[in-house]
Amino acid sequence: MSEAGQARPGTDAGGDGGDANLGREVVTAEQLRTRVAELGAEITRDYAGRAPLLVGVLKGAFMFMSDLSRAIDLPVEFDFMAVSSYGSATRTSGVVRIIKDLDLDLTGRDVIVVEDIVDSGLTLNYLRRNLMARGPASLEVCALLLREGLQKTDTDLRYIGFTIPPAFVVGYGLDVAERYRNLDAIVEYVGT
Ligand code: IMP
Repeated sequence: MSEAGQARPGTDAGGDGGDANLGREVVTAEQLRTRVAELGAEITRDYAGRAPLLVGVLKGAFMFMSDLSRAIDLPVEFDFMAVSSYGSATRTSGVVRIIKDLDLDLTGRDVIVVEDIVDSGLTLNYLRRNLMARGPASLEVCALLLREGLQKTDTDLRYIGFTIPPAFVVGYGLDVAERYRNLDAIVEYVGT
């Protein structure tokens, strides 16, 4: 696990054009590249001789999953799930609804759930229970970001990219109302 990098106030990350809703850079594009490569190498070692099934949680994990998969030197397979949690725009309630289910059967598979960010851990907790009931050989979680100290449940994350301070962030797949997913860094959202 790496600690998130220092702020570069006013940085024009990923073509945001000086957007006033964006604050400091929490994780730079360079730090993302380095850490994703490390995670890929770690997974390659841990799953040697196996063909893990990467389960991406849409939409936030799409960019991370794309880069991570290219850093894994194994015959990986892909599937995606979309979930929505009831609650306000910036807080989950822990009640999760499956919007899009997996296409593949998990029976006997080595599953790695790829998540964008773990906040309360409630979404992940629900997903883990739901996927474990489908009989995988193993199930681990690779989360790009873990928000410091706010977990309401034991998250048991096998792979963590960065631990970040408790601020709402966007970029590299993460959004506010579908915007900012294409920023190449993780940036604090300071808008209302
Ligand atoms: P949890 O259930 O509280 O752990 O929330 C996890 C989900 O909430 C993530 O998969 C994201 O979709 C969303 N989320 C939590 N924090 C952020 C954030 O800072 N930016 C964007 N989405 C977030």
